[in-house]
Amino acid sequence: MNHYSNYIYMLEDNAHLISMVPVEELVRFGYEIGLNEDMKVLDLCCGYGTLLKVWSEAFGIEGVGIDLVDEFLSIGRERLKKCQMDKVTLIQGDVTTYQDTCKYDVVICSETIGSSADTLALGEKFLKPGGVLCYQKLYSKVMNPPQELIDFDEEVLPLSELNSLFNQLGYSMTSMASDTQGMWERYVLNWSGKRDLLRLKAEPDNEQLRNWVNKWYNMYFDYRRQYEGQALFGLQRF
Ligand SMILES: C[S@@+](CC[C@H](N)C(=O)[O-])C[C@H]1O[C@@H](n2cnc3c(N)ncnc32)[C@H](O)[C@@H]1O
Repeated sequence: MNHYSNYIYMLEDNAHLISMVPVEELVRFGYEIGLNEDMKVLDLCCGYGTLLKVWSEAFGIEGVGIDLVDEFLSIGRERLKKCQMDKVTLIQGDVTTYQDTCKYDVVICSETIGSSADTLALGEKFLKPGGVLCYQKLYSKVMNPPQELIDFDEEVLPLSELNSLFNQLGYSMTSMASDTQGMWERYVLNWSGKRDLLRLKAEPDNEQLRNWVNKWYNMYFDYRRQYEGQALFGLQRF
């Protein structure tokens, strides 16, 4: 153990997020929504299940995570085992057909499936009355985002419009955890970019992949870095 051990531990968790909101913000958010050891949390599209791991370690919640990709789930399960955490279960499946008889205190919608309205309706199906619906969502930092960004990400609304949309759907925003520049760079270059570059090394003649890699980097440097943000929004009905 040295002065950096806790920091490195947190970086390890950050490295296993497929999103741009850092662990310390996720913990603050969990504290604000009043998580405790009697609560159950469902993460739809959980990736490695890192958010559930962090909240279970910090607040003692019980968690269930669903994701399509076996690779993410196996790495996530290994990490949970290493920390001797048995209150989080990760299940392979498609969230659009997922069935569960349990209702949860908190449901996280980590990916937009269809429209925002469709996504929140899916999460609501599993939420206890009075529970907190969490939505991880990209947004535009400017009122009129460049067309290139709209073409790349489809729906990127400015925060005020996103808030109006949540209101129209019957929710108020009661918490928000924001991204950081460092987390974007970790995600774009170190997580996603490096995976694609390794694929390109194995398939050097794959022109389609090469074009995608160029587009991915250019979209970040020319547009996403300036105009796009991501946050975890806590939504409640009143
Ligand atoms: C943006 S990542 C977020 C992962 C995680 N919440 C995090 O922050 O690390 C979106 C995840 O959604 C998963 N996904 C996309 N569509 C899905 C579906 N229909 N059912 C289950 N998982 C899905 C992907 O495999 C991916 O892991």
